[in-house]
Amino acid sequence: MNVLNPPDLGTPKIAGDASVTLAIDGISVSVPKGTSVMRAAALAGVNVPKLCATDSLAPFGSCRLCLVEINGKKGFPASCTTPAEAGMQVKTESPRLAQLRRGVMEMYISDHPLDCLTCATNGNCELQDMAGTVGLREVRYGFDGANHFDAKKDESNPYFTYDPSKCIVCNRCVRACEETQGTFALTISGRGFESRVSAGQDESFMASECVSCGACVDACPTATLTEKSVIKLGQAEHSVITTCAYCGVGCSFRAEMKGSQVVRMVPNKDGHANEGHACVKGRFAWGYATHADRITKPMIRKAITDPWQEVSWEEAIAHAASEFRRIQARYGRDSIGGITSSRCTNEETYLVQKLVRAAFGNNNVDTCARVCHSPTGYGLKATLGESAGTQTFASVEKADVIIVMGANPTDGHPVFASRLKRRLRAGAKLIVIDPRSIDLVSGPHVKAAIHLKLKPGTNVAIVNALAHVIVTENLVREDYVQSRCELPAYAQWKTFVAAPENSPEALEAATGVAASDVREAARMYAQSQNGAIYYGLGVTEHAQGSTTVMGIANLAMATGNVGREGVGVNPLRGQNNVQGSCDMGSFPHELPGYRHVSDSTVRAQFEAEWQVTLDAEPGLRIPNMFEAALEQTFMGLYCQGEDIVQSDPDTQHVADALSSMECIVVQDIFLNETAKYAHVFLPGSSFLEKNGTFTNAERRISPVRKVMPAQAGMEDWQVTMALSNALGYPMNYAHASEIMDEIARLTPTFSGVSYAKIDELGSIQWPCDAMAPLGTPTMHVDHFVRGKGRFMLTRYVPSDEKVTRKFPLLLTTGRILSQYNVGAQTRRTENVAWHSEDRIELHPHDAEQRGIDEGDWVGIASRAGQTVLRASITQRMQPGVVYTTFHFPESGANVITTDSSDWATNCPEYKVTAVQLVKVSQPSEWQERYRAFSFEQDQLLAHRLPRAVHEA
Ligand code: SF4
Ligand code: SF4
Ligand code: SF4
Ligand code: FES
Repeated sequence: MNVLNPPDLGTPKIAGDASVTLAIDGISVSVPKGTSVMRAAALAGVNVPKLCATDSLAPFGSCRLCLVEINGKKGFPASCTTPAEAGMQVKTESPRLAQLRRGVMEMYISDHPLDCLTCATNGNCELQDMAGTVGLREVRYGFDGANHFDAKKDESNPYFTYDPSKCIVCNRCVRACEETQGTFALTISGRGFESRVSAGQDESFMASECVSCGACVDACPTATLTEKSVIKLGQAEHSVITTCAYCGVGCSFRAEMKGSQVVRMVPNKDGHANEGHACVKGRFAWGYATHADRITKPMIRKAITDPWQEVSWEEAIAHAASEFRRIQARYGRDSIGGITSSRCTNEETYLVQKLVRAAFGNNNVDTCARVCHSPTGYGLKATLGESAGTQTFASVEKADVIIVMGANPTDGHPVFASRLKRRLRAGAKLIVIDPRSIDLVSGPHVKAAIHLKLKPGTNVAIVNALAHVIVTENLVREDYVQSRCELPAYAQWKTFVAAPENSPEALEAATGVAASDVREAARMYAQSQNGAIYYGLGVTEHAQGSTTVMGIANLAMATGNVGREGVGVNPLRGQNNVQGSCDMGSFPHELPGYRHVSDSTVRAQFEAEWQVTLDAEPGLRIPNMFEAALEQTFMGLYCQGEDIVQSDPDTQHVADALSSMECIVVQDIFLNETAKYAHVFLPGSSFLEKNGTFTNAERRISPVRKVMPAQAGMEDWQVTMALSNALGYPMNYAHASEIMDEIARLTPTFSGVSYAKIDELGSIQWPCDAMAPLGTPTMHVDHFVRGKGRFMLTRYVPSDEKVTRKFPLLLTTGRILSQYNVGAQTRRTENVAWHSEDRIELHPHDAEQRGIDEGDWVGIASRAGQTVLRASITQRMQPGVVYTTFHFPESGANVITTDSSDWATNCPEYKVTAVQLVKVSQPSEWQERYRAFSFEQDQLLAHRLPRAVHEA
């Protein structure tokens, strides 16, 4: 038995209060009713031999190794499929059982290559373990009969191998793909001796529907499905629990290590966000952390046309500090600022905002959440009183009707999507509100009951139309609203949404959605026992993003769907630590814990702890920083872990702004697009090289633990600390945990959080305080955080971004499973095997009108700029709407997006850009310029002056 593997109790845990007591080999044990005899035995400390059973999958009963004897029952029942009953007397060992089990093992072993010593899973193979457990000493059938020893391996997946010669046809992989992942990519083809696992229609794994989540690899008890990293490196010798650094699901992993080398990342069965599941990014795409492109030495240069010079940490930090002070002396205290990153830890973002407020002396700090979920913060705070999602992910398992709006969970939040699909397969109903036919609309064993395929930019109209039906058809949960919400605001809202202009019929022309579908969806949601809403950037990244978030909260309050399991308003956060970076005070108007900088009581607490006077005026938001740079009043920027050139809208505008500044300090693991405009480069540390915490979309604070030394010698928080000290504002932390202790002292919702508690509980959902010392899984239980829930008026204002004769199509953007955000990490992994370029998706009708064929180069022009991408023609799109991803810098997706933004938060309107498409044969002018500029910057990096030359 491999010491790294947590115990496997054979069959899944059964929930329930009723228990039964039975005896296993004379040991009495009480278990919830419905628990298998196998699990009961394991809980009594008796491990019954097994092969086809594992506690992450429903029992299957095929291998016949787990036979037991039960008093009063005939024969030898399989313990994995037999439910424990009160009074049962179970015997797990007897001469007859031993003989039967050996017989089973003989059958398996006679068709199994006995190359254990050179097998990749030697020491971590359940077949090997079971042969030892049952005491197999001979194989009477010999090894000369028909066998599968020469069966051909499938090496097509970049991350794992399928070696059918080692398959025992236990079906665990097939069930994992169905039950855990919900993709149904695998079957057992053939019968009897011929039966073998098959991906798709006898295809290779890569050619099949497989999404490379790794669930089958985890489930496989033999070496048949094995990670290529394990084949290459051998078995790990220790493991460390840490958290995925990709999306807002925040999956927990065991980093399995050999010294300081990662052998594989295994999803943690005890991880509360993922419960042992993962997706291709967290499970396999971690190789970027040691990629050759990593820059591990600090660098400086005077102008962006100069070659980089490698310098010591001391020199780089001193140079950055003196430049910032020089700029402030010349242009004023407010002429510099900082940007925190949602990819960095809570402790790191906290320190960057502290540096800006305490050492820079202003509030010019903002974060990438500005461009994704800032409307969530605004909208949920205004209505419910807290800028965060209301539930746990597990809550979806109690929902009856689920609305997914402006989100594509199978690509963006895959592990949550697997949970959601499981719930849908169990009978819950799904309403999708999205301009595209996302996978959830119709997938294997999952079909949306209703798809409201609206036109981009009409979210508020749809939400108002849904509210109109709920109010006018008397579907409001009046008792809930009367007791929990502000009644004058409710009365106003009711009158507002009931007005005829908000009826589905009146809004049909604007939304493009049949009124009858809207009515059916409203009834379905309002009449459900538990209705839950999940939404994403398709809600927030609009001119009316904040309005839609408030509209969603209105719907949930009106139907009584906030404050218990199975319901709620749930923003699916994009990056791993979007929630955390917002919690930590990354916005220019808010100190940690969402408290306004103008609040003198709050400021006084921070002033006392930080020993500095704080500015009471909110600072600049990112778009304001760009404007100020162009006006020559904002001249210095410290940008940690963000790539604003690639991720922010209107790339040319961003580039012009950065080119206007005198000192840009970029801290990152790669020379990203923003670093090409930088004067100081401070090497960053990957999630494997530092300690800290991430907070996921459920408000769950999870540990990030250092498993290897920081490649550049410093963890990111240590760099910020050094910069602060060089600026003359002292910071002294010996460990990231001390930063969390300070956060807890200053932030009421974090007051009960400590590293010791996180280690003890695995993770904690804030608020965690004296009232809720173990955290808060569900928010707003008895009352809303703001006291009474507040209905907000949500007038629909059509976007300024309208189709015209010149720009007759609407472009919307999103992401794809295998790539992550700006792609800096995933582009440096084998994930490019799935997605190696961004494409423009369009409906066949629009393609035909323009003479565009699949794969053609297509010019895309908006009022902001032009770019060229290859065409992908698909029925997923509706006519008049086109779509692209933004994972590759040369695609220039954000060259086309405009400066239009959310009225409340300035979140860019990425999801609506009027464009025209035309077939072309060459790159756009911008792309030509980008290539030339990138080539020049790569040369300046490649020919960087090493430290010795510089010193000479
Ligand atoms: S990797 Fe995931 S999707 Fe692919 S076959 Fe295995 S379980 Fe199914
Ligand atoms: S590949 Fe592994 S899990 Fe799947 S049937 Fe074969 S041995 Fe079992
Ligand atoms: S990317 Fe998201 S879903 Fe995938 S493993 Fe990481 S946290 Fe989980
Ligand atoms: S483990 Fe029970 S039949 Fe295979």
